[in-house]
Amino acid sequence: MTLADGTEVVIVVCPSGIAVLADECPHQGLPLSSGALGADGSIECPFHGARFNAMTGACLRGPATDDVPRYASTIVGPSLHIGPRVAPG
Ligand code: FES
Repeated sequence: MTLADGTEVVIVVCPSGIAVLADECPHQGLPLSSGALGADGSIECPFHGARFNAMTGACLRGPATDDVPRYASTIVGPSLHIGPRVAPG
């Protein structure tokens, strides 16, 4: 999905909720949207296997060393409202 400012994001739907992450792996900038969502709530980059917490974007396994940027999101009725980038941590 592309935001109004041109940012590509991936919407992650997990049993624990919905998260909006940048669709860009911090390792080499390749898209995370074709990655696999694990039963443990992580998303794995399909290119070199980095793993991130799907709800927070926190890096769990290299080769990436940085977290994936996350965006605020709120469900309002049938719509998902995507807000600004959330500071890491
Ligand atoms: S681009 Fe994601 S692990 Fe390398």
